[in-house]
Amino acid sequence: MNVLVIGSGGREHALCWKIKQSDKVDRLYCAPGNGGISEIADCVDIKADDIDSLCSFAKENEIGLTIVGPEVPLVAGIIDRFNEEGLRIFGPDKYIAGLEGSKVFAKEAMSRFRIPTADFKVFDDPKEAKAYIKEKKAPLVIKADGLAAGKGVIVAKSEDEASSAVDLIMVEKKFGSSGDRIVIEDCLEGEEASVIVVTDGKGFLTFASSQDHKRALDDDMGPNTGGMGAYSPAPVVTGELENKVEERIINPLIRGFFAEGTPFKGVLYIGLMVVDSEPYALEFNVRFGDPETQAILPRLKTDLVNIVEASIDGGIDGIKLEWDKRPCICVVCASGGYPGGYKKGVPIYGLDETLKMKDVVVFHAGTKLTEGEYQTSGGRVLGITALGDNIKAAIDKAYEACDKINFEDMHYRKDIGYKALERVN
Ligand code: AMP
Ligand code: GLY
Repeated sequence: MNVLVIGSGGREHALCWKIKQSDKVDRLYCAPGNGGISEIADCVDIKADDIDSLCSFAKENEIGLTIVGPEVPLVAGIIDRFNEEGLRIFGPDKYIAGLEGSKVFAKEAMSRFRIPTADFKVFDDPKEAKAYIKEKKAPLVIKADGLAAGKGVIVAKSEDEASSAVDLIMVEKKFGSSGDRIVIEDCLEGEEASVIVVTDGKGFLTFASSQDHKRALDDDMGPNTGGMGAYSPAPVVTGELENKVEERIINPLIRGFFAEGTPFKGVLYIGLMVVDSEPYALEFNVRFGDPETQAILPRLKTDLVNIVEASIDGGIDGIKLEWDKRPCICVVCASGGYPGGYKKGVPIYGLDETLKMKDVVVFHAGTKLTEGEYQTSGGRVLGITALGDNIKAAIDKAYEACDKINFEDMHYRKDIGYKALERVN
């Protein structure tokens, strides 16, 4: 079977790396891909949101299975379009993708299915929003309704900050029409973690837990980013907590949508806040996490293609996931200046050295291969990923590999995985 992966980041490199290991795959394509992906798949110069061209490509190249990495094409309805054309594709339809595309839709689903989450209210008028802020008192969380590349959520510690967030989103329209409506919700204090499941609409498989590191700098300082590193499993997600997440969040959501006649197929990513050992849903995404996927897939022994096909065709309950017990961590090496402006086209050195290391894999994100040389082409450049017998060993190995890599103004956090280390010691 020919397989097409859509996207160009570290997550897509990890997906291609894992899919390539499947006996079921003849040719692997990635659109548009990146420098690292081009070593293992045929990269096709089509953007991830160009649904028409992707559809034509899939038809012309007898693609038997398409796997979508990022949220934008899902929210734009790529699954509906491919299905109309009789093409096999993995993921939720446009309606269900609203769980990620609209915070209002997601919060309303949480209420309808009685899923534990922060109390909230929806506003389409900035004056009313500000009156509510005065009455409720900070801290509050202000969220643009629509997609905002992970930047549309502001945790406001004071009333002033909350009001400024309303102005930024609703008046200045920082995120365009994504800010026509906002959600204001109570601020929850606890530890965050991610749980990813794959569902066929009825049953589901819970993947190993993970934890992202969203801030740019050590000790969770600095601005928010797409994610500076991740590890799996996340010790904060104990077996008992995972049971609660399945019982209170995953089951009600999947059963709820099934009962409403709009089954959820694909990836459900739950952003959790764990407060006093109780799970609350902060957000839903409808695709694999980035960089969580880079830390999860090296631990997955089961064929990912079988899992994805079961999501499309049904029968996911018949699959048993097998995991490498060893923890895995992924440290993101970013361009100087990220998440702000940064230089591109900077040569990357030392990748060959990491190839010699056992249990280390370097997933490329913003890289390109030009005349045999790897260069930077984005903010997040590489995900240095390592397995270890314990979390300490995995951390040490990943940082040993980071030491071998070098490009101008490279920066990475030095504390990825330390929360896990504190919990297991
Ligand atoms: P979201 O995209 O909704 O997950 O929000 C992005 C980030 O904002 C989360 O990863 C949390 O760090 C933070 N956040 C969102 N909602 C809340 C909340 N109700 N309380 C505290 N922090 C939150
Ligand atoms: N790592 C966060 C996300 O993928 O949304």
